[in-house]
Amino acid sequence: MHKIITKKEIAPAVKLFEIKAPLVAKKARAGQFVILRIDENGERIPLTIANFDAQRGSITIIFHEVGKTTKQLGGLNEGDNIADIVGPLGNAMVSKKYGTVVCIGGGVGIAPIYLKIKAFKRAGNEVISIIGARTKELLILEEGIRKTSDELYIATDDGSKGHHGFVTDVLQELIDTKKNIDLVLAVGPVVMMRAVGNVTKRHGIKTVVSLNPIMIDGTGMCGACRVTIDGKSRFACVDGPEFDAHLVDFEELMNRQRIYLDEEDVALQKFEDHKCH
Ligand code: NAD
Ligand code: FES
Repeated sequence: MHKIITKKEIAPAVKLFEIKAPLVAKKARAGQFVILRIDENGERIPLTIANFDAQRGSITIIFHEVGKTTKQLGGLNEGDNIADIVGPLGNAMVSKKYGTVVCIGGGVGIAPIYLKIKAFKRAGNEVISIIGARTKELLILEEGIRKTSDELYIATDDGSKGHHGFVTDVLQELIDTKKNIDLVLAVGPVVMMRAVGNVTKRHGIKTVVSLNPIMIDGTGMCGACRVTIDGKSRFACVDGPEFDAHLVDFEELMNRQRIYLDEEDVALQKFEDHKCH
């Protein structure tokens, strides 16, 4: 059992939980994730470790309430318990000195870049961050990212803050006007990561993306998280989640993410009906 120590709503329907998980916190590194189950009948869902504190014995997760399980999770409160947390899973990011690194986070995908920015800074890189969301209320962790980065650029789809448009517009402008960029790291919706990869490929800039396929066990046994990288099958949970953006088959990833949409809708509907009763 893992107690929820802190609960905050950091944007509409976006929740931050700090959870007691001392064994995970002791070993966690930037880029890794956990798989949690709310109760013994619960679905297993992967969530990036947004932060960890080995001394407090806690990890932080940030999630958007979009489906049945994330809505159920968001309904829990401080003092409630989560049945299982497995982790840390996946490979930690490689945070050596590259030079100038651009870190891009889209929507709730902003959450995982915070620890990565800190790791890149610790390794001696100049870090330029770009965060984007549909509207300004959905921009999360802005202050923390501003403090940790050398420069921060913001984009909103509706123009309510920063550049009116996508994070990729800002990236293109940086490439056109800025000095050399040595590495780009992007986390967010698959369409965004594909678009970032398309921009950087034209300029020959090494680019890493953190993939988020459906996962079940998180240990390389079920095959649910299979992705194709450079024409070869890889499991995102044990071989990733970070991969070279220029080698990822994004179309296949998008198709595989949609496999259970009907079942997910039914589960959400049943959950909402049950709540009404
Ligand atoms: P969203 O759809 O609101 O998009 C966020 C931003 O991404 C947009 O504001 C825009 O700047 C950019 N974007 C979107 N479409 C684009 C396009 N076609 N071209 C260029 N830029 C584009 O994001 P959301 O609804 O918050 O979803 C966030 C996604 O991040 C989810 O799919 C989630 O699964 C994923 N995620 C991934 C990880 C991971 O570790 N890989 C972690 C957390 C979240
Ligand atoms: Fe099962 Fe990766 S989640 S193999």
